[in-house]
Amino acid sequence: MTRTILVVNGPNLNRLGKREPAIYGTVTLPWIIERLRHLAAEHGVTVLDFQSNHEGALIDFLQEHGEQAAGVIINPGALTHYSLALRDALAALAAPVIEVHLSNIYAREPFRHQSVTAAVCRGQISGLGWRGYELALRALLAMLNEEDSRAKEEHT
Ligand code: DQA
Repeated sequence: MTRTILVVNGPNLNRLGKREPAIYGTVTLPWIIERLRHLAAEHGVTVLDFQSNHEGALIDFLQEHGEQAAGVIINPGALTHYSLALRDALAALAAPVIEVHLSNIYAREPFRHQSVTAAVCRGQISGLGWRGYELALRALLAMLNEEDSRAKEEHT
């Protein structure tokens, strides 16, 4: 069975490329997802992506697909700073979750300095633009590889 990595994007990230390009860059979300798909495919992994401007829709998606996922990459957008409901949905997942932000949230307005979701994630990448998504995927792929090697060792 091929493994699936979820790539989840929250409010306003559908506007990437047009939205405040000096902060978020000029590439679009479909462009990022396409790159991730290619990289994942090279490693025999599938990407299932979802973007919504609605907190509940993001939670529904995580509930529906999170249990079967091998990993999750999430940019919760502004929900990062206040959504305890999204945090709880992420905390319930067994698979490793990596939180990504295009901008460096710690170098911006004080209300962005707090992430209520990061503490239930394996790690966070902030400020590296679209490359943060790619680095998150590479990290998850490396973790899966390690898991496989460990499982093989246990069987020999
Ligand atoms: C963001 C940072 C958030 O503070 C903001 O609300 C976003 C995007 C980022 O990717 O840098 O929507 O998550």
